[in-house]
Amino acid sequence: MDPNSSQSQRVLSGMRPTGALHLGHLHGVLYNWLKLQHTHECFFFVADWHALTTEYDNTRVISQSVMDMVVDWLAVGVNPNAATLFVQSHIPEHAELHLLLSMITPLGWLERVPTYKDQQDKLKEKDLATYGFLGYPLLQSADILVYKASHVPVGEDQVAHVELTREVARRFNFLYGKTPDFEERAKLAIAKIGKKNAKLYRQYRKRYQEQGDQESLEIAHALLQSQQNISIRDRECLFGYLRGEGKTILPEPQPLLAKTLKMTGLDGQKMSKSYQNTISLREEAAVAEKKIRTMPTDPSRVKRTDPGEPQKCPVWQLHKIYSSDEVQHWVQEGCRSAGIGCIECKQPVIDAVESELKPIRERALEYQQDVSTVRGIIREGCDKARDVARATLDDVREAIGMAHG
Ligand code: TRP
Ligand code: SF4
Repeated sequence: MDPNSSQSQRVLSGMRPTGALHLGHLHGVLYNWLKLQHTHECFFFVADWHALTTEYDNTRVISQSVMDMVVDWLAVGVNPNAATLFVQSHIPEHAELHLLLSMITPLGWLERVPTYKDQQDKLKEKDLATYGFLGYPLLQSADILVYKASHVPVGEDQVAHVELTREVARRFNFLYGKTPDFEERAKLAIAKIGKKNAKLYRQYRKRYQEQGDQESLEIAHALLQSQQNISIRDRECLFGYLRGEGKTILPEPQPLLAKTLKMTGLDGQKMSKSYQNTISLREEAAVAEKKIRTMPTDPSRVKRTDPGEPQKCPVWQLHKIYSSDEVQHWVQEGCRSAGIGCIECKQPVIDAVESELKPIRERALEYQQDVSTVRGIIREGCDKARDVARATLDDVREAIGMAHG
């Protein structure tokens, strides 16, 4: 069976292995993955080549983090029976597609991606004026397109990368999608959506193409989107036929902006390894406790009897994530009236973090002691991912006209 044929709701997401995962990853990304694995076909991968774009002079951290990262995913509850877990560099098709896409991607598109300049400014100590770093978002596009993913769960900062991916896919389809059998294929696909829908589709297509009526385009688009029984290929073919383009070889993905929580770090900034303000998923209870106990609080509470303001305190940000309404009320009241002390106030957060981390730590330990199981999971995931990626590259080579030999 064609591995790309049946999924119209495929999610792809990757994480860079550049150190231990922490609560920021858990609340910002992983809890979302846990939900998605039940609603979508999910591909989650370790983006080790992406890590190399910034850690090329410190590759040890990458290879150490790859296994740890998968162990952490499993410990948190990512289910290898529900989601496909793999490592980017084990699937060379990412690199091949990246190379092929690089031939058609204008330099300006990459130079304009906001993260390019932002990250160079932020990571001043590193020389990121490299070819690979400029190409980072295009490699990400290849990651996404090689699986023909329909959805990419991302944070705000990555939306531009999905947007670039859409533009590159569009350009690819425009350049290489006009195959002679395209019209034939479109007609066969129309036959699969039922007589009534087919009639509507033709009407809207005509109205759009002859009168440029945007609304007709949108209605027909929605009509196709609601067809549960047709394959990705057929759907994309009909999208392309609708717009008067050629065949869609690489479907355009959508960003999936989840309602995830921004985890505040120990110092009140965003939790991030580079700020050294994290609590890692494997943190020992005593260490996590100490980190929270020594967190700064509202600076105006110098003495225990000074009233404070939760809004000015990073501990409050953690209460907002971890505490019930009741506890939150107790904090607000007690802080503003100096009725509670900061150590007292921190205790429920300490307890909540510990009850969250304890089972994760225990499961991580089990997986660490059973490396062969983890390796097996990665091997199986890679095999599955490779099948999909190979099928896409067959289509791509053929479309470009590079399937010779
Ligand atoms: N750039 C992403 C990050 O820094 C990681 C990543 C690489 C990714 N390839 C991807 C995310 C493909 C989603 C899809 O977090
Ligand atoms: Fe922060 Fe709580 Fe202390 Fe108020 S009582 S300053 S919210 S730690």
